[in-house]
Amino acid sequence: MPDKSKFYLTTPIYYVNARPHIGHTYTTVVTDAIARRKRALGIDTWFLTGTDEHGQKIERSAQKANCSPQEFADGVSAQFRALWDRMGLTYDDYVRTTEPRHKRGVQRLFALLREKGYIYKGTYTGQYCVFDELYVDAPPGAPCPDCGRTTETVSEENYFFKLSAFERKLLELYETNPEFIRPEARRNEVLAFVRGGLKDLSVSRTSFNWGIPVPDDEKHVIYVWMDALANYITALGYGSDDPADKARFEKFWPADLHIIGKEISRFHCVYWPAFLMAAGLPLPKSIVAHGWLLFEESKMSKSRGNIVRSETILDVLGADALRYFLLREIVFGQDGSFSFDALVQRYNSDLANGYGNLVSRTLAMIWKYFDGVVPQGAGDAELGASAMSAAASYGERFDALDFSRALEAAWSFVGAVDGYITAKAPWKVAAASDEASRGNLAAILYTAAESIRIITALVYPIIPEAATKVWSQLGLGDIQQADLKNLAWGGLKPGTKLGELSPLFPRAEKDAITRMQEIEQKNAAAAVPAPAETLGAEAAAGQAHVEPKGTEVGSSAIAPAAPVAPAASEKITIDDFAKVELRVAQIKVAERVPKADKLLRLEVDLGYEQRQILAGIAEAYTPESLIGRKVVIVANLAPRKLRGFESNGMIVAASLGEAGKPVLAGFLEDVEIGARLK
Ligand code: ME8
Ligand code: MG
Repeated sequence: MPDKSKFYLTTPIYYVNARPHIGHTYTTVVTDAIARRKRALGIDTWFLTGTDEHGQKIERSAQKANCSPQEFADGVSAQFRALWDRMGLTYDDYVRTTEPRHKRGVQRLFALLREKGYIYKGTYTGQYCVFDELYVDAPPGAPCPDCGRTTETVSEENYFFKLSAFERKLLELYETNPEFIRPEARRNEVLAFVRGGLKDLSVSRTSFNWGIPVPDDEKHVIYVWMDALANYITALGYGSDDPADKARFEKFWPADLHIIGKEISRFHCVYWPAFLMAAGLPLPKSIVAHGWLLFEESKMSKSRGNIVRSETILDVLGADALRYFLLREIVFGQDGSFSFDALVQRYNSDLANGYGNLVSRTLAMIWKYFDGVVPQGAGDAELGASAMSAAASYGERFDALDFSRALEAAWSFVGAVDGYITAKAPWKVAAASDEASRGNLAAILYTAAESIRIITALVYPIIPEAATKVWSQLGLGDIQQADLKNLAWGGLKPGTKLGELSPLFPRAEKDAITRMQEIEQKNAAAAVPAPAETLGAEAAAGQAHVEPKGTEVGSSAIAPAAPVAPAASEKITIDDFAKVELRVAQIKVAERVPKADKLLRLEVDLGYEQRQILAGIAEAYTPESLIGRKVVIVANLAPRKLRGFESNGMIVAASLGEAGKPVLAGFLEDVEIGARLK
């Protein structure tokens, strides 16, 4: 019998090589929302987050910053924690991998696996990607197939984990436990990876020191991913002999839910269960991998520098606005775009004009007509039924982690209550002073207030700050103490004295967007070195682009190119050029598009993502000749549909002669996939 009275959930522990951005906030906010709902339902909940502080990447960041790795980690870890505290996140524990409790647990785990024969010593020669902290299957000098960065050749005596021994067991696990990896798309990727065969995994390094030493063989440090993944058990108390730690571990392990971003599914869904199986420990019940937050069309990431910091949004709109936006706007599990425009629009329409306005106008009327005391009145039965059905679909969708649609259900009820008030026009009813009108007015305002109570209880996990305020404005005290489990219609007691009113979500003016953008720009300018001053001659001369033109694809798929350099009056600034994101990509798939003679459908690898591009080059290149070729693409071109295919970007080529024969741009030296041209 699964224990339904407890729930243990985790975020990834974040690397301390750079400060937090809203991608990290996204995962942590989702986890916080789930934790809050579980607690509100009376479930004993443990929510863990923290920071991942070892590894070469962090050692190198510290070197650059001229301080020790520990000092560096202390600083950034504290920034993460301060941000979560500022946002009021309700984590129960914050683990740092440099803490003694964690190191001890990891060493115990390592020693146990070695004792059981699952870890052995061998020699490894191969390529290592420092950025991903991952050995990769590639020849010397080859770029990392995951991120495109240059790999380093490493030859060292290493400890290996017998991952190959777990291939069948893992496949069985995925098959018998469809919930183990969610969503389906991630499950399929992991299945394919394991079906492709598992090699033993190197789990120690000797070429740097910043890590947890292998017990009894201290010139080795333990592989950072083994170190990091173990946080989920060491933080509970694994490896400790203290009875309180043991009890916590017994109570909360296995985890009910590991929430992660999709790029780290392999570590969590393959390596982690294999380590646990080898140790004879129970496996987590579910791993959920969400999509990426994109900004300006590509994954928001510290290495790409296209980040937005949460603090900027907190300063201007507050934490609830950010939480609401992330959970409402992004379909959980899929990639979603962040933009300041969309944020402000959501804020105004759903929070300021929606929920916020409903609350303030209802409560203001109760103050005005009933001296701030909830009037005695029968709640409207029809609206009561809608409230209960909204609560039911909200709960169902929330628990299926479909936050966006859960909020849709709640907000369609907000709309219904608004409509009810408008239709009943209580301000008109109040103008009449007869007994019946007074009773009618009481019933209308009771209904509205009771509806607000239900909505507030539902949305508390998503917008806790506002919900806490509204709860006390309704005269109901501290929402954290409230039992939100049995939300029956009619629960609001007439005679309840309302609390002080205070504004909830003041409308954001137009300048909110520019203010946030300015804060971000200042920040980016402070953090990133100035761009190079010189441009390649080709770029300045206005290279020709091969881009199929919207509707004319079939006939003339190649945009005619301007063969001459732009006239003086058309000169652009370096900032204009910087808007064009040119990157190296490798063609992985190339095929003809039916009924379009000039068009090829390409799938290109940018290192950090694969995407589809349609290019009008079929008359000049056969599909076969293109596979593996490195090309230059405009990576931040708005996507468009061509012949029913979405084209995401554009391949850069010279355009020759009258007919504009395309010749693909390329490089004489070997270049990393994903590298930016600037
Ligand atoms: O991978 N969109 O740490 P990390 C959505 N230390 N989520 C994002 C995101 C984005 N653009 N960017 C980051 C590590 N995240 C390891 C984890 S766990 C045992 C070790 C979130 O600092 C998302 O949850 O690179 C992603 O998986 C995580 O931050 C990666 O953080
Ligand atoms: Mg990462």
